[in-house]
Amino acid sequence: MATLLQINSSLFSDHGNSSALANDFVAQWQRSHPHGEVIIRDLGANPVPHLSQAHVGAFFTAAADRNDAQRAIIAESDALIEEVRSADIIVLAVPMYNFGPPSQLKSWFDQLARAGVTFRYTENGPVGLLDDKPVIIFAARGGLYAGTENDHQAPFLKQFLGFIGLTDITFVYAEGVNMGEDAKASALDRAKVRSAELVNALKNAA
Ligand SMILES: Cc1cc2nc3c(=O)[nH]c(=O)nc-3n(C[C@H](O)[C@H](O)[C@H](O)COP(=O)(O)O)c2cc1C
Repeated sequence: MATLLQINSSLFSDHGNSSALANDFVAQWQRSHPHGEVIIRDLGANPVPHLSQAHVGAFFTAAADRNDAQRAIIAESDALIEEVRSADIIVLAVPMYNFGPPSQLKSWFDQLARAGVTFRYTENGPVGLLDDKPVIIFAARGGLYAGTENDHQAPFLKQFLGFIGLTDITFVYAEGVNMGEDAKASALDRAKVRSAELVNALKNAA
């Protein structure tokens, strides 16, 4: 049974453009995987804790030496990592806020980045420790950035995910959603067409 992990990070929850696109993709995926399991995290409604002094203290303390508070911090991070590890496909709904990803998504990333658990450093550089799997990113932006030097968001997402071992990444952009109703409608329509193509490609690959 395939498992899909959906991470929404819009502050508008299901009303966000990125969430609506991701929800649409996941609904189609469920139709082609009737026995599949979907796990949804809405980071806008239920953010994970921001990385703090206590977190890095817990992360950098050997397991045997952790106190109760540190064990609770590690347990939460472990659970988030396990969700990623056990998923067969990951869907990320990513708005652009102030030229980057929402801080809620960054906090989730910060919970996943654990030396010796999701990455390790070698003499040849860092190695991701998660098994690779498809990651589909629905990126909603008010303006136009994809493929330009002004897009600081997509390269960061690719770099972070690659760092922990996830390199099979596909972006679906809905850009220009704040550039008038027509621009928004056609951006969302194009994204939905692309989304349907991806569902079919995944179905045919299965
Ligand atoms: C707080 C905030 C900051 C934003 N910053 C940008 C930005 O830097 N560049 C941009 O193109 N659009 C920006 N926008 C527009 C959003 O990218 C656009 O509304 C998109 O649909 C957000 O995704 P969502 O609807 O899933 O939340 C911003 C919107 C908000 C609410």
